[in-house]
Amino acid sequence: MQNQLNMNMGNVIDPKHIDKEFIDLFNKPGPYYSSYPILAEWNKKSDNFDHEKTLIDYFKKNPDNPIYLYLHIPYCAKLCYYCSCRIHISNNRNVINNFVQLLVKETNMLESFFKKNNIKPNIKEIHLGGGTPSHLTVDELSLIIGEIKKFTNIEDLDEFSMEIDPRTVNVEHFDHYASFGVDRISFGVQDFDPEVQKKINRVQPYDLIESLMVNNIRKQFKGVNFDLLYGLPGQTLETFRNTIKLTNQLAPERITLIKYAHIPEKRKHMKMIQPSDFPPESDIPLMFVESTKTLTNSGYEWVGIDHFAKKTDELAIAKKNGTVYRNFGGETSGNTKDIICLGPTSTFSFGKYYAQSTYDLHEYRDSVEKGKFPISKNYELNNNDIIRRDCNFSLQCNQVLDIKKIQEDYNIDFYSYFAKEIDKIKKYELAGFLKLEDNKILVTTLGRYFVRHICQIFDTFIDDELEYKVHGN
Ligand SMILES: C[S@@+](CC[C@H](N)C(=O)[O-])C[C@H]1O[C@@H](n2cnc3c(N)ncnc32)[C@H](O)[C@@H]1O
Ligand code: SF4
Repeated sequence: MQNQLNMNMGNVIDPKHIDKEFIDLFNKPGPYYSSYPILAEWNKKSDNFDHEKTLIDYFKKNPDNPIYLYLHIPYCAKLCYYCSCRIHISNNRNVINNFVQLLVKETNMLESFFKKNNIKPNIKEIHLGGGTPSHLTVDELSLIIGEIKKFTNIEDLDEFSMEIDPRTVNVEHFDHYASFGVDRISFGVQDFDPEVQKKINRVQPYDLIESLMVNNIRKQFKGVNFDLLYGLPGQTLETFRNTIKLTNQLAPERITLIKYAHIPEKRKHMKMIQPSDFPPESDIPLMFVESTKTLTNSGYEWVGIDHFAKKTDELAIAKKNGTVYRNFGGETSGNTKDIICLGPTSTFSFGKYYAQSTYDLHEYRDSVEKGKFPISKNYELNNNDIIRRDCNFSLQCNQVLDIKKIQEDYNIDFYSYFAKEIDKIKKYELAGFLKLEDNKILVTTLGRYFVRHICQIFDTFIDDELEYKVHGN
């Protein structure tokens, strides 16, 4: 039955076709692949791992590769009970300013490293993330960006984006951000319902967001993104429909629609949420499915796993061109794949290497004061990992895996190399998730809702299989 539905269902599935099996599969835990292997598989940095040498080798081999520079600001003004990020709450300006001085020092270290090794990084994108970059003062941000300018030509950037907590800004802030070169902004909206906002300890009335979505602000940026979360305490199908309706009214260029991840064993503050306040498990997939329908009907293109973009936005164009990529911040247009970063908790991805800076602020301070990059974890991908990452990212970002291209790029016979995986692929084809056609593996409309699970086919660290029935036989 679902095979037939799949063929007739267009770009999204109709919420009325959701059954128990769909709900169970959708709610099945599994990683979101922002990297392959996922961060949990990276190793604690060993003493003989030489981060600087790997960077030098990479830049020698790939001097012109476009680079995405990520800066992590760990401080926030107030604790959101749902937050899974590595954050520190402080409103003590001295504490925050001390951190800014350290970040400036780390930025200086990177600049000296580039100079000493005659590296001229081709930085094409910058992202200020966190935590809450907008919790820094304009002067603090100006200081940091001044340091970055010593090795980056801001005028040459393809993109300069910044995460903003709407509660920390006023209209004048945006003039400053634009003058720094920021050209895309992202608001943490999460949910518009006042009761939900109370339960997550993040009260930010609709009027506040509306007051920031005015032409005087928007005209200074090429796009605004809203982060929305579904599965939050207090949400019902009805309240979430209204959040999507209000989002549509404000018409941001992009929307990130993320499933709430509840990990109270890792983030103790999540225990502030009453378990009885969570929406029923059966409503969670419905919230997403209904939203995919409403948003695509309102002119948004569904990109990758959980992003939506207006048809004129670069992300929607990247989808059309099949160049979408995913990094630690979510789906990107794929112009830059290699990431260099600054600040605690931030994650590097360049060539065959991943690395992460420590999230512990004492360790971070200690390292930076000694003039060392604060790396705490790393991973070196072997050829097999690289091939598997490519297969995984092609499916999850662009819903197609070009077998011929993989064979040519890696000089393998796909069918014998992935003999074990082909069995799974064929089973998923029968279940209506995938289609094998013209040497391509295509993700069907139905399969898009489970794509991160389907990508586990290529994950050698996880041995799991979707349980499903073969429909229509
Ligand atoms: C690190 S925050 C940065 C944005 C900014 N601090 C703000 O909140 O306005 C980035 C996004 O991560 C998402 N996020 C935080 N906790 C999450 C969780 N437990 N599950 C899924 N997504 C989460 C939220 O949508 C949030 O906007
Ligand atoms: S959601 Fe944003 S503002 Fe809230 S605690 Fe997390 S990082 Fe801070």
